[in-house]
Amino acid sequence: MDNVFIAEHPLIQHKIGIMRSKNTSTKEFRDLVSEVAMLLCYEATRGLPLADKEIETPITKTTVKEIAGKKLCIVPILRAGLQMADGILRMIPSAKVGHIGLYRNEQTLDPVEYFCKLPTDAAEREIFVVDPMLATGGSAIAAISLLKKRGISRIHFLCLIAAPEGVKRLCQAHPDIDIFIGSLDERLNEDGYIVPGLGDAGDRIYGTK
Ligand code: PRP
Ligand code: URA
Repeated sequence: MDNVFIAEHPLIQHKIGIMRSKNTSTKEFRDLVSEVAMLLCYEATRGLPLADKEIETPITKTTVKEIAGKKLCIVPILRAGLQMADGILRMIPSAKVGHIGLYRNEQTLDPVEYFCKLPTDAAEREIFVVDPMLATGGSAIAAISLLKKRGISRIHFLCLIAAPEGVKRLCQAHPDIDIFIGSLDERLNEDGYIVPGLGDAGDRIYGTK
């Protein structure tokens, strides 16, 4: 799958390893979500176009590179995606931010939409949808469908941990997007949780369980 990138960077593997432990504190977990999101963002932005810009250093005139257009937008899927957006904004402070609120119905595992607010010019932007977990794929598929309905096409999806089942479903539903994954895990369990995974990302970030 040409559009699926699985991170092999040692820093990403090390940090995700710490996140998986049930003994990692809420504060440490939260910080690690931001840090791994920053590292994934580094990979996901590798293809951004650059333009030349004339500047003057204290020594001489020269030509430097800048990201062409600077038209980026981060779209976290609530709740857990917010912590990834926090990390990416530290790398790209000028990015705009849209929000999509979805939660999984615990019985059916189907996503339920409760919020969507996007920048008015989102369709002109390169969109980075972020959510730490890609499990059944239902939430990511619904979020991206919602964006496409609003005329948005240049979409990248970033997650920290994915199940093979979710990656397959997402690729089938949206073959035109890029997917960046911190770790591809073994499988889903009967409750729709990723194995070995890290548990419920939202609960671990916000300490709600
Ligand atoms: C988690 C996670 C994803 C979703 C992934 O959110 O952050 O959004 O589950 O599962 P899926 O691939 O099977 O859809 P959750 O629904 O628990 O909501 P929360 O962030 O509000 O806790
Ligand atoms: N959502 C989570 O937060 N964790 C999982 O393992 C699956 C879905």
